[in-house]
Amino acid sequence: MTAHSRRTASTEVPVTEPGPAPVAPEHHETEDALVELRDGSQVLIRPVYREDAPLLEEGFSRLSAESRRLRFLTDKTRLSPSEVRYFTQVDHHDHEAIGARDATDGRGVGIARYIRDPQNPEVAEVAVAVVDQWQRRGLATELLSRLFVRAREEGIRHFTALVGEDNEAVPALLDDLGAEFRIVDHGAGAVSYEITPMPDGHGTELQELLRAFARGDLRVPDVIRDVLAGIVPDRFHS
Ligand SMILES: CC(C)(COP(=O)(O)OP(=O)(O)OC[C@H]1O[C@@H](n2cnc3c(N)ncnc32)[C@H](O)[C@@H]1OP(=O)(O)O)[C@@H](O)C(=O)NCCC(=O)NCCS
Repeated sequence: MTAHSRRTASTEVPVTEPGPAPVAPEHHETEDALVELRDGSQVLIRPVYREDAPLLEEGFSRLSAESRRLRFLTDKTRLSPSEVRYFTQVDHHDHEAIGARDATDGRGVGIARYIRDPQNPEVAEVAVAVVDQWQRRGLATELLSRLFVRAREEGIRHFTALVGEDNEAVPALLDDLGAEFRIVDHGAGAVSYEITPMPDGHGTELQELLRAFARGDLRVPDVIRDVLAGIVPDRFHS
């Protein structure tokens, strides 16, 4: 089977939708983590609940056509009510979603999710989207890093992702997270990734360390400097 012929839960609501999601516990404001992004802007990050449906729809409306195509691998102009339900009524076990809101106006700006493979409980499909205005600030890195930690708590060790073959952001993003990944399948316009995150979600810390090293802000012994020099991505020097 080729990548393009595969239907995936994160790009399309499964035909046999699971029964009603268990009622999620009420969320509390205290669950919000206030996170400062690279440019100093701030977001509130927490798991997604059923009452976040309007946030999801509004956030989707602010994704450019190109970002929607890259996320859903089709020219999607709107989310159907069943898609909105599927993407927000998650059980926080086999399906987890973590969302970010603009800390100043509360609007949804990014979301990352995993959906466990029913055939292989240690594997889940992963997907992420960030509203265009908020891209390149480190938000997807932050969301995925947190999602990987959550997934690990739920016994998930590996991920798959179906990605547009012209999507240059994804391999760079995974590199930044320190994840191991490889393309396992090609189809017309899409590729399947197999992804193994760093244990314990150390990706963001490693990324910060490597960036600091590339800027020359990190003083380390020669032997460590040589090791770091060998693994800093070229783009961190620009
Ligand atoms: C892919 C996506 C989620 C990245 O979100 P983001 O918040 O901008 O990502 P980050 O800021 O954390 O980027 C981390 C790194 O990823 C890489 N990256 C991100 N966007 C990139 C792009 N458009 N082109 C090339 N590299 C990119 C860069 O290396 C970046 O680090 P840098 O900004 O220091 O160069 C976002 O572009 C998006 O929503 N795209 C549409 C949906 C999609 O493609 N989803 C992925 C498939 S499910």
